[in-house]
Amino acid sequence: MTLFLAQALDPEGPVADSAAGLWWLMLALGVAVFVVFAAVLAVGLFRTRPGDAPESGSQPSDRFGPWLVGGGVAMPLIIIAVVFAATVHAMRDVPTTAPVGALVVEVVGHQWWWEVHYPAEGITTANEMHIPVGRPVALQLTSADVIHSFWVPALGGKLDLLPDYTNTLVLEADEPGRHVNRCAEFCGLQHTLMGMDVVAEPPEGFAAWVASRQPPAADPASADARRGLGVFLGAGNCASCHTVRGTEATGSRAPDLTHVAGRASLGAAAVPNTPDQRARWVSDPHTSKRGVAMPATDISGDELADLLAYLDGLR
Ligand code: CUA
Repeated sequence: MTLFLAQALDPEGPVADSAAGLWWLMLALGVAVFVVFAAVLAVGLFRTRPGDAPESGSQPSDRFGPWLVGGGVAMPLIIIAVVFAATVHAMRDVPTTAPVGALVVEVVGHQWWWEVHYPAEGITTANEMHIPVGRPVALQLTSADVIHSFWVPALGGKLDLLPDYTNTLVLEADEPGRHVNRCAEFCGLQHTLMGMDVVAEPPEGFAAWVASRQPPAADPASADARRGLGVFLGAGNCASCHTVRGTEATGSRAPDLTHVAGRASLGAAAVPNTPDQRARWVSDPHTSKRGVAMPATDISGDELADLLAYLDGLR
C-alpha cells in the first residue's frame, strides 16, 4: 500500500496522470534551479577570499548586474512562464462538467462519513463507491453540514463538498484498483477517520456490484436474525437514524445499512468490517471512532448476538 499522498504520483486515470506530469515538471525545474544556484554559490565561495577588495573604480553592483538581471528576473520569469503554460495545458484535461455517457454519482459529506447515491441505478449506500474502468464518473459533491473535500490521489484532484452547493468532479480510472478517498478538508474531531473505499473494476464487475446493491435487504435467514431485526427496530433504536430498505427502518441521519455486511469497512473506513469489529461497533462505536455521532448502546448478550446475526445477513 503506497503512502496516501504518494498515490498522486502513481496515477491510474487521465486526470491524475496530467496532475502527476505537472508535479514532475515542477520538481525537475526546482532541482535544476537548486543545482545551478548551488554551483554559482560554490564558485563564489571558492573564488572570494576574506580581504578581497573590489576592483578599483567598479561598484559591486556593476559586477553583479548581469547576475541580478539574469538570475533574479529573467530566469524566474522564464520558469514561471513554463510552469504556467504547463498548468493551463494540464487544466484542459480536467473536465468541469459531466461528459456525455458519464456515470453520475452523488456524494454527500457528513461529519464523518460519506453518503453515496447512484441516481440512474437507484442505489443508496455509504462509505463505498464502485466505478467502472474506462468510463468517466461525474461526482456531484455536496455537504450536509460543514465543508469536506473529496480526494482519491490516484484518480484525480480534490474538490470541496460545500453545504447548499453542488460541485462536479470528473474522474476516470484506467485500470482496476482499490483506493481510499480521504476527506481533505479539516471538518472536526474525526476528520482523519473520514474515508471511503473506492473500487475501480471492469464493467462486468461493476454491473455485478450494481445488481448486488439494487435489491432491498434480504429477509432474515434464521430465527436469530429474525429476532435481530426486532432488536434493530425496537430496543436498539437503530431505525431512528439508519435505513434498511425493505424494512420499517427509514432513518436518514446515518449510513444506509441495506447491504452493510457487504462493505469492506465500518465507520467510514475507520475499521475493517469483520464480525468482531461489527460487535465492537454496535456495542460502543466510540472505542473505534471517538466522537462519532452514533451513541453507545446497552444491547448485550443474546440481544446483541441476534442483532449481529441480522446485520451479518445484510449483504
Ligand atoms: Cu470531512 Cu474532513
